[in-house]
Amino acid sequence: MTQGTIVDRGLEGVVVGSTELSNVEGPEGRLTYRGFDIHDLATNATFEEVVYLLLFGQLPNRSQLADLNVRLAANRLLPQPLIDAMHAMPKTAWPMDVLRTMVSALAVFDSEMQGGAHASNPRIALHLIAKTPSIVATWNRIRRNLEPIEPRSNLSTAANFLYMISGEVPGPEAERALDTYLVLLADHSYNASTFAARVTASTRADIYAAITSAVATLEGDLHGGAPSKVMSMLLEIGKPERAELYVREALARGERIMGMGHREYKTRDPRATHLEQMAKALGAKTDPKWYEIARALEDAANNVFRETKPDKKIYANVEFYTAPTLYSLGLAGDEFTCMFACGRMAGWSAHILEQLGDNRLIRPQATYSGPPVTPFIPLAERDRVRSNGTSHS
Ligand code: ACO
Repeated sequence: MTQGTIVDRGLEGVVVGSTELSNVEGPEGRLTYRGFDIHDLATNATFEEVVYLLLFGQLPNRSQLADLNVRLAANRLLPQPLIDAMHAMPKTAWPMDVLRTMVSALAVFDSEMQGGAHASNPRIALHLIAKTPSIVATWNRIRRNLEPIEPRSNLSTAANFLYMISGEVPGPEAERALDTYLVLLADHSYNASTFAARVTASTRADIYAAITSAVATLEGDLHGGAPSKVMSMLLEIGKPERAELYVREALARGERIMGMGHREYKTRDPRATHLEQMAKALGAKTDPKWYEIARALEDAANNVFRETKPDKKIYANVEFYTAPTLYSLGLAGDEFTCMFACGRMAGWSAHILEQLGDNRLIRPQATYSGPPVTPFIPLAERDRVRSNGTSHS
């Protein structure tokens, strides 16, 4: 690579592609899916409508939606060998490790994938969108020494998931909260996991491979791994009055406040508004404490950041109120990232198909910072040369 090239390690502000799927307007704090504002979708659309919108390019009419619901419901059941494999795993296995492994394993049981066929199509996308919540719910039961519950075909994605972890059909409020959560998380332009999926797809690897890359990329704290850390903070803080001291001490130790800050948004994340409302409403029915601590923590962090990093614009991101919301729905902190994957499966799949629709191998460059061109030293001579101190390594 030529000298003098500008290197941007985080690709910050670098445009690497185009998408029709979603638009993140960071300075304004606006998110749209195919032109529809996330606030309208969160308030009015179901997750299934958003799946249709992302995969097929428009909001569905009634019969299209009914057809999609039938297809999703028909795909929820997991292959028995996958359930057996989960039974064989240590109960201490981290849910994201289990999910990543099981998503990858699904390819083996797909007849269209036999013989190395690198297939990617809407059928497999729906298959993955339908089965991911079943994997998460099945592991939720198995790790608690409970028998897995088979999916039901007459429930929405959100209601079926809650049914599969508890054995009870949820009330409308819990169903609506999880459904809205899935809508909010369904897509977010070229975020790290989506970019990983597109890179993998661009090699013409199949959709299972690309989705596995995405799930793997999601798990880190700087991306989808944050909400479990938010929950750990809420548990550690214990009561709202301790929030400000916690923030000051954490920052003094050089730690980050999880669920705060975003590469794109320089305002409060538009999705946080809906998640906050849900955390508050669900908390009022279960235990208001977690919402109250989160609210106090956000206020404290905003105050301390204004004081200590006035030019940084660090505000609550989508992960912040995800924690009290999903906790109130009965999920453990280490399962939150898996729920993120359930929603984002829609966006990942749509991005993979979009990438393949106009594909070009994604292959960036790097500057070289190693030693200069050096003559090769045969093995027999290497020790002698090194003991003379003439080798560079
Ligand atoms: N807590 C404390 N300081 C922060 C935080 C935070 N949450 N976020 C950013 N900062 C500070 C950094 O310390 C840095 O300060 P400095 O310049 O004085 O050293 C400055 O803000 C810029 O930080 P960067 O990491 O360069 O900013 P970036 O745009 O890469 O940050 C990120 C985005 C990684 C999400 C960051 O805000 C962060 O680490 N947040 C906490 C983890 C988190 O919530 N992740 C989920 C993100 S949402 C998602 O992926 C779905």
